[in-house]
Amino acid sequence: MATIRVHLEGDGAAAADRSYDVVCGRGVVAEVGPAVAAGGTRRAVVVADESIARTHARRVQESLGALGIDAPLLTVPSGETSKSAAAAERLWNEFAGMAVDRRTHVVAVGGGVVGDLAGFVASTFARGLPVWHVPTTLVAQVDSAIGGKTGINLSGGKNLVGTFWQPRGVFADIDTLDTLPGREFISGLAEVVKYGMIVDSAFFSWLEAHAGPLAGRDPTAVGTAVERSAATKAEVVSRDEFETSGQRAALNYGHTFAHAYETLAGYGTLLHGEAVAIGMARAARLASLCGRIPPDVVERQDALLHALGLPTAAPQAVRDVDALLAVMARDKKSVGGRLRFVLPSRIGQVDLVDDVPEQLVRQVLATAEAPPKE
Ligand SMILES: NC(=O)c1ccc[n+]([C@@H]2O[C@H](COP(=O)([O-])OP(=O)(O)OC[C@H]3O[C@@H](n4cnc5c(N)ncnc54)[C@H](O)[C@@H]3O)[C@@H](O)[C@H]2O)c1
Ligand SMILES: [Zn+2]
Repeated sequence: MATIRVHLEGDGAAAADRSYDVVCGRGVVAEVGPAVAAGGTRRAVVVADESIARTHARRVQESLGALGIDAPLLTVPSGETSKSAAAAERLWNEFAGMAVDRRTHVVAVGGGVVGDLAGFVASTFARGLPVWHVPTTLVAQVDSAIGGKTGINLSGGKNLVGTFWQPRGVFADIDTLDTLPGREFISGLAEVVKYGMIVDSAFFSWLEAHAGPLAGRDPTAVGTAVERSAATKAEVVSRDEFETSGQRAALNYGHTFAHAYETLAGYGTLLHGEAVAIGMARAARLASLCGRIPPDVVERQDALLHALGLPTAAPQAVRDVDALLAVMARDKKSVGGRLRFVLPSRIGQVDLVDDVPEQLVRQVLATAEAPPKE
């Protein structure tokens, strides 16, 4: 078990109070009850993905119940379409119907969808309820549950409405990943590779050396990957909580492209991590075309992504360059109409670049490589 601290600095004593722990390891779901009880409440509401309501969410409820905390369960249908205004409204109304008040803590159990939605609802209901995250997907354990970004989608784009709302604590139980479908697990490895690319070249090398055990879901390798990724996410968030200094923006490596692919493919067709893998492959090619990295960086990243079972080229259905560019221009990360990219300068370092010629972006979007060899 490892405990990683998210230090939130900036405005004196109040900010210090908002710091929290990310507890990673096997069986840490059992720690939820004691932590919430120590947070000083007797009342919680568990918001869970319906697919794990009777398994992992039940264990969270048991852990809370053992400490005398009443914790009714609300379920959310699985899938990206639950990150909607309609789903948020349903939860707001359910909270109201249960007389949820500001002493009630929200415990989100599920992947990034439930975490982003429940976090958003918690941050807005009664002007803000404490929230705890129990991430049950690899994406959520290494990324979405840490850092306090919440959000829902609009038809015009992903995550267009949301808040910054830091959790009281995060419990990343590796054992909950055992039930995760293979494609979902592999998809989560894209965010893991991202940490190696943006800040941690030693971790990137470790991933190259352990790609086999990781793809094979060896618990020791998975545990190390989750801990190290969560620690990097925590550190970046600690340094730049509100994405003002540019450091947190590094986490968007591959994501400007990824969001465009996800939007065009229809939410949920391409898994988030798959889109991120393709997006990182595009970003590295763009960096290479801009003369920022030698071609071997592109090749090393491609090789690692392929070794982990991830794609580097977009499916035929989402190769419409004009449509992709149109979505990217609407992305909230574009500044004053100019496209902004996070591009590598080597393995383990990225920069924010906003003077990329559109012609080069078109070129990397249009390139169709052969699919990875089996
Ligand atoms: N807030 C952030 O900082 C942040 C960061 C990254 C991603 N995200 C968001 O996260 C979302 C993607 O998250 P995700 O990949 O976790 O998707 P998800 O929440 O849709 O979960 C993926 C699938 O796994 C199922 N599932 C969840 N846990 C399971 C388990 N233990 N066993 C079996 N099945 C399980 C779900 O029902 C779903 O079908 C996107 O909406 C993305 O925008 C947010
Ligand atoms: Zn992501």
